[in-house]
Amino acid sequence: MEEWTMRPIGHIRSSYSETSQVPKGLGTKHTLEGILEILPEFGPGLQDIEGFSHLFLIWIFHEAQGYELAGKPPTDDRPHGVFSTRSPRRPNAIGLTVVELIKREGCMLYLRGIDMLDGTPVLDIKPYMSSIPMEKLRRGWLEEAEKISGTDHNKKL
Ligand SMILES: C[S@@+](CC[C@H](N)C(=O)[O-])C[C@H]1O[C@@H](n2cnc3c(N)ncnc32)[C@H](O)[C@@H]1O
Repeated sequence: MEEWTMRPIGHIRSSYSETSQVPKGLGTKHTLEGILEILPEFGPGLQDIEGFSHLFLIWIFHEAQGYELAGKPPTDDRPHGVFSTRSPRRPNAIGLTVVELIKREGCMLYLRGIDMLDGTPVLDIKPYMSSIPMEKLRRGWLEEAEKISGTDHNKKL
């Protein structure tokens, strides 16, 4: 089997120390502020990042145990395949979160909208860009679950 080795470029500083503290469920909005501390050796890679209001963070669910190819998310009572959910328990335990960049101080990025635990390793940062118009987006089972519960569908990643 093919394998790649990756290393963190930094770590999240968050007030969430346990998964139970992270808000879950339909309509949840993540507003928690936290810091991404980039390792000094990768600091030069932050040049010009201040120009972007939002960033994609690609990170590791470092506390997830194993994986499940199908399961019930907290947002629905029906099972779904892991690749149509955001479950932490996936074959490659990779998380993706869109965060707002409040400010940068050297190697510290002050962020809003984090949903990860303190100490979470971050693999990469990319500027947020989306050119997909709302009317072209389909949101599968989640859209149905939101309709049933009457929650707002206009959620961030
Ligand atoms: C549903 S996942 C979504 C994460 C990300 N926005 C994504 O879509 O990949 C968020 C949950 O992952 C769990 N979590 C956060 N950080 C974690 C970590 N470092 N290791 C394991 N689980 C974590 C928390 O329980 C949180 O509620």
